Amino acid sequence: MSSVLITLPDVSSTQYLGQTLGHYLSEGTVILLEGNLGAGKTTLVQGIGQGLGIKDAIVSPTFTIVNEYLEGRLPLYHLDLYRLEPSEIQGLYLDRYWDSNEVTPGITAIEWGQRLPYNPSDYLDLRLIYDEGQGRQAIVQTQGNFELDQKIWSMLQGTSKQ
Ligand SMILES: Nc1ncnc2c1ncn2[C@@H]1O[C@H](COP(=O)(O)OP(=O)(O)OP(=O)(O)O)[C@@H](O)[C@H]1O
Ligand SMILES: [Mg+2]
Repeated sequence: MSSVLITLPDVSSTQYLGQTLGHYLSEGTVILLEGNLGAGKTTLVQGIGQGLGIKDAIVSPTFTIVNEYLEGRLPLYHLDLYRLEPSEIQGLYLDRYWDSNEVTPGITAIEWGQRLPYNPSDYLDLRLIYDEGQGRQAIVQTQGNFELDQKIWSMLQGTSKQ
């Protein structure tokens, strides 16, 4: 299986999905978060932080582009590309987070990840959908050679039944 659809009826289910990812994802994972304004991207990253055991408050890196949290099971790098043009992103060399020895491998979560002009070769695509009628849903999909344990898939599927 390479994708799963999860319903997120309330804030705590979005946080819980993030916690599961934070608990089980391996170092070096890149998550590209897509979804309209207010879809729940930051909420999900807050859950990832909890799952990693990070106690610091996770707030959107609006003016800093990236916030780094180093106190958990793995480092968390939280990026938000909303205010940046692809041409500006190009010069930031963000691929150092997944393609270099410069940065301690951790979890890199990128809000508005579709704005990256250069995608990682392997990553987790996480789409948050907010529809007035349908409510909130997430689609988690592996890209490239990224693999998730069957155990994690089962847990992610389980979150939709909560
Ligand atoms: N599953 C959910 N059910 C109901 N409310 C939710 C859910 N997930 C998030 N929210 C709420 O939606 C609001 C926006 O969430 P959040 O800031 O995480 O969105 P975002 O996608 O990061 O927004 P932005 O595009 O501005 O970065 C918050 O008030 C949050 O508590
Ligand atoms: Mg946000």
